[in-house]
Amino acid sequence: MQFFKSLPTVLVLLTSALAATTVDQTFTRIDKDKAMLLVVDHQLGLFQLVRDFSPDQFKNNILAHAALGNVFDLPTVLTTSAETGPNGPLPQEILDMHPDAPLIKRNGEVNAWDNSEFRDAVRAANKTQIILGGIVTEVCTAFLAMSLREEGYEVFANTDASGTFNERLAAEANDRMSKAGVTLMGNFAVAMDLMRDWRNTPGTPELLPYFDKYLTAYGYLARYHSAAVTNGTL
Ligand SMILES: *[C@@H]1O[C@H](CO)[C@@H](O)[C@H](O)[C@H]1NC(C)=O
Repeated sequence: MQFFKSLPTVLVLLTSALAATTVDQTFTRIDKDKAMLLVVDHQLGLFQLVRDFSPDQFKNNILAHAALGNVFDLPTVLTTSAETGPNGPLPQEILDMHPDAPLIKRNGEVNAWDNSEFRDAVRAANKTQIILGGIVTEVCTAFLAMSLREEGYEVFANTDASGTFNERLAAEANDRMSKAGVTLMGNFAVAMDLMRDWRNTPGTPELLPYFDKYLTAYGYLARYHSAAVTNGTL
């Protein structure tokens, strides 16, 4: 009797355990023809909140994130939160990179997906994959990323381009996003998955200058290789 009583409970527990483990575990690749880029609240004022990167490193990272849109010709949507207040505008460098991109200025919505103009701008791009980064990680990036997952998008959070108050908050937010099926990857991996093959276009001629500017270790490696070719070592 006890067995029969508890069987439904066991089944419910088993089913929810299975559901919890069936989040997409496969290798979801970025396809540059299906992807778009979101720059979320990388604002001058909010920049001050970021403590899990040094300021110079994070500046480099958000510029590298925004520049992916140009290197790979991805539709790009910019958004800001309360930019006439202390949150401030986006860095001029980012605005200069994307003079024609929609810039959706939210006046209250914390989660950009709650703003209909923003939703329209994302939908107008007609893409199925979304690469995003924002300030702060557990709010502006995570809320939007999870809303996009709910909408059925494949979502790639550029972990180099999201910052927050401390590393614990970043880890918790990344864990939460990951459980919602968001793919977490750094800027180098995003760039490599978009490129796929050095012989593609964009490929070596486009990516080496990009890394020379935003990923010094790789840029110097390429210069080292080039020097070896020039001096006849290779
Ligand atoms: C949206 O993209 C799909 C798949 O690439 C394409 O078949 C369709 O025509 C596009 N729709 C618009 C309105 O551009």
